[in-house]
Parts: sequence; structure tokens; C-alpha cells
Amino acid sequence: MPNPIFPKSADRILRLGAAVAAVAVAGTLGLAAYMAHPTRIDTGYTPVQPVAFSHKLHAGNLGMDCRYCHSTVEKSGYAAVPATEVCMNCHVRVKPDSPLLQRVRESYATGEPVPWVKVHKLADYAYFNHQAHVTAGVSCVSCHGRVDQMIEVKQVQPLSMAWCLECHRNPAPHIRPPELVTRLDWKPDRDPAEIGRELIAAKNIHPPVNCSGCHR
Ligand code: HEC
Ligand code: HEC
Ligand code: HEC
Ligand code: HEC
Ligand code: HEC
Repeated sequence: MPNPIFPKSADRILRLGAAVAAVAVAGTLGLAAYMAHPTRIDTGYTPVQPVAFSHKLHAGNLGMDCRYCHSTVEKSGYAAVPATEVCMNCHVRVKPDSPLLQRVRESYATGEPVPWVKVHKLADYAYFNHQAHVTAGVSCVSCHGRVDQMIEVKQVQPLSMAWCLECHRNPAPHIRPPELVTRLDWKPDRDPAEIGRELIAAKNIHPPVNCSGCHR
């Protein structure tokens, strides 16, 4: 059923009405927050990281599963960036003298974490949870793109409210068997939306489209 408050062009309408809506929803959803927060337009954002870590090498060429490093992604709201110990599982032996790993070795010796720069960041007033998505069968690729082909991680989706709602209103094309969520190159042998619809019916999947679902 089409939602009269959020047609496809909702983003622009909402922006115009942001101040009004903010009063209606909660005092925290302010125009000030909207103006001050840049990331919703940061598609392409690729900050320079303290260590030249490559997903293309580790997740692509070496074939490491995302969960080897992002081990909380199925169990918690946060995906979490790995602790230095995880890197050192290999790098005590692999390239132990590489200058590119100097920061990692320092971190291991001192216990100070590597200061990774966050790429994706929602405003505090929007609630997001990885576990809910990953266990429902939404792949990392739907929201982060082909990370396994990226040397440096970049933001490929706007993470805007309109973007969230587009999938929440029609999730079927994005739902796959949950055990395949980290297989970013997975190609189904039939219409993905058909597979999605079956899983949605079997597991009673209903992403929230009401305001309080994401603004708690
Ligand atoms: C060997 C460990 C390792 C593996 C395997 C790995 N990652 Fe990462 N990931 C990291 C580290 C370290 C960072 C932080 C530095 C960076 O952004 O490159 C990170 C950052 C990210 C970010 C950006 C987080 C932010 O700041 O917003 C995303 C998204 C991500 N990884 C997704 C994936 C996906 C999807 C896979 C599987 C295809 C994967 N990662 C596999 C170690 C790993
Ligand atoms: C499962 C083993 C494994 C883990 C875990 C792992 N790496 Fe690696 N890493 C490798 C291998 C293998 C290479 C490629 C070595 C080569 O080129 O001969 C490599 C290469 C690198 C390089 C390039 C080094 C150079 O001199 O070319 C960096 C930097 C690096 N890894 C950082 C990390 C970081 C940071 C983590 C933790 C987030 C991590 N790695 C976790 C196996 C691993
Ligand atoms: C439905 C969309 C969606 C899916 C699916 C998804 N992510 Fe994310 N991811 C996000 C958003 C949105 C953020 C920013 C969260 C924030 O700032 O609160 C994020 C942030 C991250 C981060 C930074 C740490 C954090 O939790 O903020 C990592 C790492 C990450 N994602 C990895 C993954 C991996 C690995 C997968 C697949 C197993 C995955 N994500 C699946 C949307 C998604
Ligand atoms: C590609 C599809 C997709 C995208 C994009 C997406 N979601 Fe979802 N979302 C889902 C699905 C599927 C569920 C699971 C619903 C269920 O299990 O009933 C879900 C569930 C949720 C829930 C309910 C979780 C809970 O614990 O109750 C929240 C909140 C949520 N999403 C917020 C967001 C936000 C915020 C964004 C944008 C930053 C977003 N989602 C982007 C598909 C998506
Ligand atoms: C599926 C999740 C979701 C639902 C449902 C949702 N929002 Fe949002 N909303 C978001 C996200 C994500 C943002 C942007 C956060 C950011 O920029 O980091 C946002 C931003 C906003 C903003 C700030 C202005 C802007 O456009 O960035 C307002 C005001 C707002 N939402 C009101 C509402 C109202 C009113 C409803 C119900 C009619 C609603 N939201 C339903 C996820 C949602």
C-alpha cells in the first residue's frame, strides 16, 4: 500500500518539512541536526586510514569471510572493527617486518587500538541494527557494495531516510538465505525477488515503516 506521507520523492518533501516534522516526532529531530550532519550525502566518502589495509586483498584474494573480522555483525547492533589481535593472528608470521604494518605492531605492543577512521555514520537520532538485517537475510552488499573488491572502503549508498524506506517498503529483492549474506558475489539461479518473497512469508519479515521504528 503506498504511504501517503512518504511517496518516492519523500526525501525532498521531508527536507522542506523537516522542522515541522521534528516538532511532531520528537524534540531531538531538529533542523539544526539536519543542517549539521553531512553524511547523508556522503556517497563516495573514502577517508584515509592509519594503516593501508585492503579488503580487496584480505576478503577478495585471500577469501576471508567478513565475520572473521566483523565478528559481532550477526549478534549485535554494531558490526565492530577488529581488534589488533585479529590482525596479529597472521601478521606475527606474515610480513612480520613490513613497514606497512608498523602501526599494527605498535598497537599490539602498547595495547592502544589502531585509530581506524569511521566511514559510515548515521546521525544519533536514527536507530540502526546490524543483527536485525543480517539475520533477516539482507547481505552486506545491499548496503556497502562490493567491499571485497575495494582497496579502501568507501560509502556507496546515501544512508538517507529515503534510501532506508525504499528497501523497507519493498525488501523482497534484497532477502536471501541468511547463511549467504557475506557471499557478496552470490548470483541466485532464479528471480531474487521470488526467493525473497518466499523467505519473507516463511519468516514473517516486516521492516518498520513507521517513524518510531527508526526514531526511538
Ligand atoms: C582481515 C579483517 C577484515 C575482513 C576479513 C573484513 N574486514 Fe571490513 N574492516 C576491517 C578493518 C580493519 C576495517 C577498518 C579500516 C577500513 O575501513 O578499511 C574495516 C572496515 C569495514 C567497513 C567500514 C566500516 C566503517 O567505518 O563504516 C565495512 C563496511 C566493512 N569493513 C565491511 C566488510 C565486509 C562486507 C567484509 C566481507 C566481504 C569485510 N569487511 C571483511 C577488517 C576486515
Ligand atoms: C588470515 C590471515 C590474515 C589476517 C587475519 C590479516 N592479514 Fe593482512 N595479510 C595477510 C596476507 C597473506 C597478506 C599478503 C602478504 C603478501 O603480500 O605476501 C597480508 C597483507 C597485509 C598488508 C600489506 C603488507 C605489505 O607489506 O604488503 C597489510 C597492511 C595488512 N595485511 C594489514 C592487516 C590488518 C590491519 C589486519 C587486521 C585488521 C590483517 N592484515 C589481518 C594475511 C592476513
Ligand atoms: C541494511 C543495511 C546494512 C547491511 C545489510 C549491513 N550494514 Fe554495515 N552499516 C550499515 C549502516 C547504516 C552503518 C552505519 C551505522 C551507524 O552509524 O550507526 C554500518 C556500519 C558498518 C560498520 C562500521 C561499524 C558499525 O557497526 O557502525 C561495519 C564494520 C559494517 N557496517 C560492516 C558490515 C558487514 C560485514 C555486513 C554484512 C555481514 C554489513 N555491515 C551489513 C548498514 C548495513
Ligand atoms: C536492503 C534492505 C534494507 C535497507 C537498505 C535497510 N533496511 Fe532496515 N530492515 C530490513 C529488513 C529486511 C529488516 C528485518 C525486518 C524483520 O525481520 O521483520 C529491517 C529491520 C529494521 C529495523 C527493525 C530492527 C529491530 O531491531 O526491530 C530497523 C530499526 C531498521 N531496519 C532500520 C533501518 C535504517 C535506519 C536503515 C537505513 C540507514 C535501514 N534499516 C535500511 C531491510 C533494510
Ligand atoms: C527505516 C527507517 C526510518 C523510518 C521508518 C523513518 N525514518 Fe526518519 N530518518 C531515518 C534516517 C536514516 C535519517 C537520516 C539520518 C542521517 O542523516 O544520518 C532520518 C532523518 C529524519 C529527519 C531529519 C531530516 C532529514 O531528512 O535528514 C526527520 C525530521 C525524520 N527522519 C522524521 C521522520 C518521520 C516523521 C518519520 C515517520 C513518518 C520517519 N522519520 C521515519 C530513518 C527513518
